[in-house]
Amino acid sequence: MEKSKIQIFDTTLRDGEQVPGCKLNKEQKLRLARTLEELGVDVIEAGFPISSPGDFDAVSAISAAAGDVTICALSRSVERDIDAAAGAIKKARKPRIHTGIGTSDSHIKYKFNTTREAVLERAVAAVKYAKRYVEDVEFYAEDAGRTDNEYLARVCEAVIKAGATVLNIPDTTGYCLPSEYGAKIKYLVDHVRGVENVTISTHCHNDLGLATANSIEGVINGARQIECTINGLGERAGNTSLEECVMVIRQHPYLGFDTGINTRLLNPVSRLVSEEMGMPVQPNKAIVGSNAFAHSSGIHQDGVIKKRETYEIIDPMEVGVDKSSIILTARSGRAALAYRLKELGHQITKLELDALYDRFLEIADIQKEVIDDDLQRLIESKEAVIAAFTDKN
Ligand code: KIV
Ligand code: ZN
Repeated sequence: MEKSKIQIFDTTLRDGEQVPGCKLNKEQKLRLARTLEELGVDVIEAGFPISSPGDFDAVSAISAAAGDVTICALSRSVERDIDAAAGAIKKARKPRIHTGIGTSDSHIKYKFNTTREAVLERAVAAVKYAKRYVEDVEFYAEDAGRTDNEYLARVCEAVIKAGATVLNIPDTTGYCLPSEYGAKIKYLVDHVRGVENVTISTHCHNDLGLATANSIEGVINGARQIECTINGLGERAGNTSLEECVMVIRQHPYLGFDTGINTRLLNPVSRLVSEEMGMPVQPNKAIVGSNAFAHSSGIHQDGVIKKRETYEIIDPMEVGVDKSSIILTARSGRAALAYRLKELGHQITKLELDALYDRFLEIADIQKEVIDDDLQRLIESKEAVIAAFTDKN
């Protein structure tokens, strides 16, 4: 089956960098942009050039250094924003302006104190203005997740007529259920004239922990671009995580999608972003957390030692992790202890294992984790441990 290509639009350097404490300087942004290009993303949202001279410079430098990847700059539906975005990306081989406006009644009433019709006019004017600079113009309908579908479809149709090439449908507040978000994308596919000539994009926030599910549901219903960030960084609870979407699509080939991402770089890139931004990754984070391929309970360890696939759906090497790890805790069994001792070069008999395991449990009940040094000491005291065990039994 021919797979449909899903464009990966990375916004780590824009939505991700907005997070307090994650600010990057120009050199850091350049380094990460090069890495994202190596990873194989299709679009890098490099920044919001009107926001500061530093960001303008960083976006310009990324544009000048970029290869075949699209470099995108954010703007509001304001001419001076669009001028700045256009100026910053002018050296890019493939430049894109990302412009838009809030379309939910809440944004229209409280942010802009205006009407739906006026917002629609501003959206069209912004797209037309951006088209003076570049061919590739992406329009975002901010808070589309809470925007009335019929009005959203009217806005989308109008901006397509004005020249938009990509329609971004953000669930800005992370409110939608996957079924609701999927239905919204389907509604647009079914009701917007000209939609077949543009790309629909998802841009989901994670306020309810649904960002990845919503993005995938969007794709299933017709979106062909996912906006996401490394490690799921982004405003509040973050954006859709790139590594999660890429691996969901890869692990479910029957869906018929492909992202073209070099998955072996997912963990190294995650670590680099975490270091550069000073933002640790939660240990239980899917795909890139330090526990993502670690097994600590006896039942799971026994299964994984017999056959990795019993408790792992991803080969760790596929995402740039050398191997699964067996963590020794008071919940570990004999199989795990024998496995880790063997890794350290110690082959032991059944009797030795029984004796050492007894002592191991005493240590593990005191410590959270039994590490290689503890195992080494355990082996060094083997004779005494076995003697005490034999006396006891
Ligand atoms: O979440 C959002 O709506 C955004 C837009 C500016 C694209 O980040
Ligand atoms: Zn966002």
